[in-house]
Amino acid sequence: MRLLAMETSCDETAIALLKAEEPHFYIEKNLIASQIKTHAQYGGVVPEIAAREHMKALFPLLEVLKIPRDGKGIDVLAVTAGPGLVVALRVGVEAAKALAYFWQKPLVAVNHLEGHIYSTFLSEETDHPIFPSLCLLVSGGHTELILMKGHGIYELLGMTRDDAAGEAFDKVAKMLGLEYPGGIKVSQKAEQGNPKAIEFPRPMLDQDNLDFSFSGLKTAVLLYLKKHPVKTEKELFDICASFQAAVVDTLVIKTFRAAQIYKPKSVLLAGGVSANETLRRELKQRLSGLENIKCHFAPLAFTTDNAAMIAAAGYFHARQNDFINPLGLIANPNLSLM
Ligand code: KG4
Ligand code: ZN
Repeated sequence: MRLLAMETSCDETAIALLKAEEPHFYIEKNLIASQIKTHAQYGGVVPEIAAREHMKALFPLLEVLKIPRDGKGIDVLAVTAGPGLVVALRVGVEAAKALAYFWQKPLVAVNHLEGHIYSTFLSEETDHPIFPSLCLLVSGGHTELILMKGHGIYELLGMTRDDAAGEAFDKVAKMLGLEYPGGIKVSQKAEQGNPKAIEFPRPMLDQDNLDFSFSGLKTAVLLYLKKHPVKTEKELFDICASFQAAVVDTLVIKTFRAAQIYKPKSVLLAGGVSANETLRRELKQRLSGLENIKCHFAPLAFTTDNAAMIAAAGYFHARQNDFINPLGLIANPNLSLM
């Protein structure tokens, strides 16, 4: 099955061509037009600008694929239908609807979060995750622990009560004067700092649930900075390392607890924050203490938003004939996974 996928939920216009020959996924094309530079000057994503940039980028990207005008060679279309910024989502959704209608090809509506989950199926290894899988999904908009019992069957175990982990990284970066999106910059600075230099709180670890909260930690960093304005590079590195350690500890401890309770056969790690090397290392190390669990982390190239992951998720829907009438599809900014 050859899928053409589109993703425009936030600030990356992404398209991908994926050929699925189970257990292999061949990513024939994976193109991303990033808008990060455009939004950086505003310190965050501006929805209307994102939509305008998607409109500018989407068809030139599609042209690169040199797909015949009748869509020959494409078996299925997949598109992110939500969650995300509604004006941004609409660009991809309306384009996919039009192509599906005129080419008379089946269309799959993919949940963006499900796309992130299926990014873990895009590794070079062909042994796909065995269910039940415990999935830690950490992105700019979401921090969730999900039990995946089978393809498309999810149970939400825990989620953030306020900020997402990536959002906390971005906000702390902003406090430190680092450019948007700051997550990666904080993690780079953290590499040279001492994670034990400052004792930031590990929120909600004393509570008997699998939820997260990062807003208090963010405030703790703000209060610390008010008392101790950054004067040297070493201080900056130490703050980044100590903040990152607090986020990673919290994510790892709660994921470990969930693994102890639900005894999954595999643990999946996905979403933009899963690019964080410390998180990958610490989670793997902690889970190595549990027997018969295999870790499937999203390959680094597919941690942040891309369309290859939407194609992978789309494939499993298509395999179950889970198609949608293109005329009935509407972008849904609050689309739920469950
Ligand atoms: O999944 P994603 O591309 O977009 C959403 O669906 O939200 O995630 C983007 C988030 C941003 O908050 C970004 O700062 C964060 O992922 N991020 C990181 C790293 N790389 C990206 N956070 C921590 N460490 C990183 N290395
Ligand atoms: Zn995302």
